[in-house]
Amino acid sequence: LNNRAEPSRSGKPLLERLAGSTAGPPPVWLMRQAGRYLPEYRELRASAGSFLELCYTPELAAEVTLQPVRRFAIDAAILFSDILVVPDALGIEVRFVAGEGPQLEPVRTRSRVERLDPDRVRTHLAPVIETVRRVRADLPAKVALIGFAGAPWTVAAYAIEGCGSRDFLEARRLARSQPELVAELIDVLCEATIAYLIAQIDAGAEVVQLFDSWAGVLPTDELERWCLEPARRIVTQIGAERPGVPVILFPRGAGVSYPCFADLGPAGLALDTTVPIDWAARSLSRPGLCLQGNLDPVALLGPEAAMLESARTILEATAGRPHIFNLGHGVLPDTRPETVSRLVSYLKSVEL
Ligand code: CP3
Repeated sequence: LNNRAEPSRSGKPLLERLAGSTAGPPPVWLMRQAGRYLPEYRELRASAGSFLELCYTPELAAEVTLQPVRRFAIDAAILFSDILVVPDALGIEVRFVAGEGPQLEPVRTRSRVERLDPDRVRTHLAPVIETVRRVRADLPAKVALIGFAGAPWTVAAYAIEGCGSRDFLEARRLARSQPELVAELIDVLCEATIAYLIAQIDAGAEVVQLFDSWAGVLPTDELERWCLEPARRIVTQIGAERPGVPVILFPRGAGVSYPCFADLGPAGLALDTTVPIDWAARSLSRPGLCLQGNLDPVALLGPEAAMLESARTILEATAGRPHIFNLGHGVLPDTRPETVSRLVSYLKSVEL
């Protein structure tokens, strides 16, 4: 089953691109476009209590989702939430400690995996689904709404490790020493993720992106089992249950395995900063596949002329192919909002 988006008559540039169009300048949105680099986010965040409380308060989460849409001429809003709300919903304790990143109750035994409760996903994540509904109702006509979830491997890696990590050694070690246990965890996460994404779609998400931020810590033989197979299941199931809703895969760090993700037939494939854009434009050439990316977020820290030149290189390499302009990873907290404005207006006005 192909996940290719149906020809779009929505009038939304992002959806047209994901349906294979190449007309007009590429649509643009930025990963982590809502967040700490925006003063209006920091102000609201300070009054909201914990980060998870913010994610679970529809009124505030909807407001934060819309903040970058009000400020910049971007073509999509991405739901304001986090990939770790899924383990939280399954009953794994998750806390965001300021300055330290996420802390989770480590999940490393069969008995703990067996106590995870997929039935809690619907009830626990109801406030996030309500956020989707509110944002969709308030969105400008040409702006698309992107829902998202973490990919099973990336979420499992946080759950096994119990925190963020540069190499996720404990998660990789468990995947080798007890693959059946990790397979069971990945299985639960697959089911929860599919149910969660379908709920987002039914509430108004028009596109969904799957963030596999830590695909790159796996060697290629394990990538098949822990990243490609779950992504195949998710793309296929969404294609079957909600045909015409585009899925964008983001297997960050997948390197030479990127073509394997293209072969799963997603509507979109998000490129990290390490993927040479001219190689991607030539080699990831499945008919209809829309590429997304991949400006280095560091380019937004300056100088501006070099940033615009890098952006132009991406536009030139992808000319004539369906492409959505984005960064290769999230906006950095030190980014000046004025720089984002400059980048977006350049992208909207440039003639190649
Ligand atoms: O604007 C958007 O992109 C939507 C919101 C969004 C957040 N997290 C908000 C957030 C999205 C799409 C995510 C995805 C996410 N979360 C990923 C995948 C993308 C990626 O960056 O690779 C991952 C790995 C996470 C896990 C996570 N959440 C970490 C490691 C951290 C702590 C580090 C940090 O940046 O602070 C978070 C917290 C988080 N998620 C914040 C935001 C705005 C900062 C929390 C705060 O405001 O205090």
